Amino acid sequence: MPRAVGALVRTGAYVTCAVQPADAQAARDAGARPVVVPDPTRTTDVLAGLARSGLSVGDFAAVCSGLEFCLLDAAAVADLGRVASDGQAFTRALAMRDKFVQKRIVRDAGVRTANCAVLEESGSAATALPSFPQVLKPLDGGGARNTFLVADERELTAAVAEVAGSGGGPWLLEEYVPGVEFQVDGFVEGGEIRLLSISRYVQNLIEVHDGGLVAHIVLPPHSHPDLYAKVEALAETAFKALGHRDGVFHLEVFQHAEDGEIVFGECGARVGGGRTDEVVERAFGVRLHDVWARSAIGRPSGVTGSPRHADGTVFGGMNLSARPGLVRAVPSADDVLAQPGVVYADVAAAPGTVLPDTTEATNLRAGAAVVSGVDEHEVEARMRRLADWFAAQVAYETAEGATEGAG
Ligand SMILES: Nc1ncnc2c1ncn2[C@@H]1O[C@H](COP(=O)(O)OP(=O)(O)OP(=O)(O)O)[C@@H](O)[C@H]1O
Ligand SMILES: [Mg+2]
Repeated sequence: MPRAVGALVRTGAYVTCAVQPADAQAARDAGARPVVVPDPTRTTDVLAGLARSGLSVGDFAAVCSGLEFCLLDAAAVADLGRVASDGQAFTRALAMRDKFVQKRIVRDAGVRTANCAVLEESGSAATALPSFPQVLKPLDGGGARNTFLVADERELTAAVAEVAGSGGGPWLLEEYVPGVEFQVDGFVEGGEIRLLSISRYVQNLIEVHDGGLVAHIVLPPHSHPDLYAKVEALAETAFKALGHRDGVFHLEVFQHAEDGEIVFGECGARVGGGRTDEVVERAFGVRLHDVWARSAIGRPSGVTGSPRHADGTVFGGMNLSARPGLVRAVPSADDVLAQPGVVYADVAAAPGTVLPDTTEATNLRAGAAVVSGVDEHEVEARMRRLADWFAAQVAYETAEGATEGAG
């Protein structure tokens, strides 16, 4: 949120931000007027909060969000208030967010994507899709949370029982796509793809649940011309079908293990997670939050020419994680910056922080880093060493108040 607000403020906009109480000061620090609400992902909360503050949607020139879980609500509020909207903002936002609706739209346009079915009631799981393996996930999930790979009907039944017990749903079942996963970041302007950055995930994101490293490395276009050509062709068809003509994107694709063809995973109209912004800025010289902010208020991207990849250096972004517990000591951002190849670091954890179980979702972390190297192999090796080093440096308070080092 602070980076999105900061980018809007740089355009000269006066920003009002619907936030929970705990985020009010951060919104102020970023340059926005906070409207404090119980839950900014709920349209009705946002409208009520505005009313309490003596504001109405009609007072605004644009309604937007940079956050995955607020994108639909921002579009709905824009439609309700007819703010810079043709009444179709929600429909367009849904196409860029709902995992089922989105796959149906791109599949109908001829883009290869996993067969899928909405699981409305847990009893119908066994017959929803014809073959295994399958992936069970929340319809509107994020960060691979509650996302399960199931090999057969027995595992599916067990996974459905687990998720049904948590009270959520409906859920989505997808045919499993075997192969390497990539994140693709950039922006479209006037229907034309202006920037396309392809990163290989060091491990497919679903592996986070087994302690996998959450990291991506930008592949320079000149080293991977075929991959770039195939992904660009898929993105062009998909964006056209989804009606995504202006703004940033964060696309996830697989390269199918059997035939090497590209399979659409999903696509959001937002800046990618982690420190994708810092990585893309170093690799291609484009500040995605600025492009996002300018498109949110209906301005041109401000990017001239075709962004080129940096010469001779490869960049990647990664989560810094450690096992859960009450933290006594943790490396500083400067300590992380002193490690080989690190060009950016932030560490959110501090003494007294209770670190969550970061294997639950890719958006849980103690910090983040951008790592550079001469090629993707050097970057990956440095990332793995950095991940091990960081986890080993974190010290914890034990229940008795004594301290212990991490293993
Ligand atoms: N059909 C599939 N085949 C293979 N792997 C899948 C499939 N669906 C999901 N996955 C794996 O699970 C991860 C999470 O799924 P998905 O991308 O659909 O949701 P999400 O990551 O939780 O949402 P977001 O990317 O918006 O945060 C993917 O990144 C991928 O590693
Ligand atoms: Mg995803």
